[in-house]
Amino acid sequence: MTGFKCLAVPGPTNMPFEIRQAMEVPLEDHRAPDFPEFTMPLLADLKKVFRTETGQVFIFPGSGTGGWESAIANTLNAGDKVLSSSFGQFSWLWVDMCQRFGLDVHNVEVEWGRGVPMAEYRAALEADKTHAIKAVLVCHNETATGVTSDIKAVRDMLDDLGHPALLFVDGVSSVGSLEFRMEDWGIDIAVAGSQKGFMMPTGLAIVGVSQKALAKRNTSDLPVCFFSFEDMIKANATGYFPYTPAATLLRGLRKSIDMLLDEGMDNIAARHNHLAEGVRQAVSAWGLTNCCQDPQWHSDTVTAIKVGDGFDANDVIKTAYHQYNVSLGGGLSILNGKVFRIGHLGWLNEIMVLQALGGVEMAMRNVGIPFTSGAGVGAAVDFYTANKQPMKVAAE
Ligand SMILES: Cc1ncc(COP(=O)(O)O)c(C=O)c1O
Repeated sequence: MTGFKCLAVPGPTNMPFEIRQAMEVPLEDHRAPDFPEFTMPLLADLKKVFRTETGQVFIFPGSGTGGWESAIANTLNAGDKVLSSSFGQFSWLWVDMCQRFGLDVHNVEVEWGRGVPMAEYRAALEADKTHAIKAVLVCHNETATGVTSDIKAVRDMLDDLGHPALLFVDGVSSVGSLEFRMEDWGIDIAVAGSQKGFMMPTGLAIVGVSQKALAKRNTSDLPVCFFSFEDMIKANATGYFPYTPAATLLRGLRKSIDMLLDEGMDNIAARHNHLAEGVRQAVSAWGLTNCCQDPQWHSDTVTAIKVGDGFDANDVIKTAYHQYNVSLGGGLSILNGKVFRIGHLGWLNEIMVLQALGGVEMAMRNVGIPFTSGAGVGAAVDFYTANKQPMKVAAE
């Protein structure tokens, strides 16, 4: 089909031309004498994206799932108790991984569309007088449902109760897009992947680790090799990696970090909020329902939209893809057929969001979902024009 494909899934995201160009380089010697001159500042600047000063950020070849595994395998012991919650496909998959690692998982199942269950977490932590719970898991942004949870509130709760458990946060669809403060929020392990907020191809698991979590690495009895923090610390200290790094991706990551820091982490979060609000206005104008049940959890990186009884969300997705070259996210697991998802994160502006909304309208018209043509696009246009753009615009 002629023209660009509109990539409106919640990762991989659109890749800036500058990042693509930064990776248009000959393959290189990752043991070259001057390689550390490239890697040392890269690792230092990555900390600014995670907003940690005292923590360390590791780059593993892999994806977010590998990042989860690194968190578990480096810091916990077989049979350790962890407190978790599942309220969507990704929060559930991390729980599943904990179970496969033989951990004693106290999981709180929550209705999909809601966020981290604060009351249940408090009750479990309060009851845990012997501090048997070694880690508390939270999915910051549940990509399957478009729900963002309050990580600071979980940290405050742990502090309030004087509970020493490590705080593990899945930041795969939030780091580099939403407000994310590893240091201030006392996050012990923050997991990200290259293909979302970093606007890169998939291929890197990027993991921020606090000194408290790092101190556990030599006490853990779970087998760890490829994702070893210890091996990475030793090699990174000299500017190298314990095995062949994805050097070409690292060149792209350099450009990604430069772009993120140039825009500013606060500006990025504000831009995502602005773009997301336009999408939410469109959903209301269509007369459809956001899968996220309460505005306190509205995600600024992805919106999952319920099509309502009598319609199959997969028809919207297939029609958008085949007829209009628009890629939308599908409903995962129990949400299959019930929702389609619009990803609105990464290298994105208002026009790109309007393009996706227009594609959704055409697909919904084709499958017979009732709405007034242009209602969603119009609502977003009204919102974007009435509200100041918290983003850099090209000089006039
Ligand atoms: C919130 C969240 N966590 C974890 C993952 C898994 O990451 P990956 O697919 O990079 O392994 C994803 C993937 O989309 C995600 O959205």
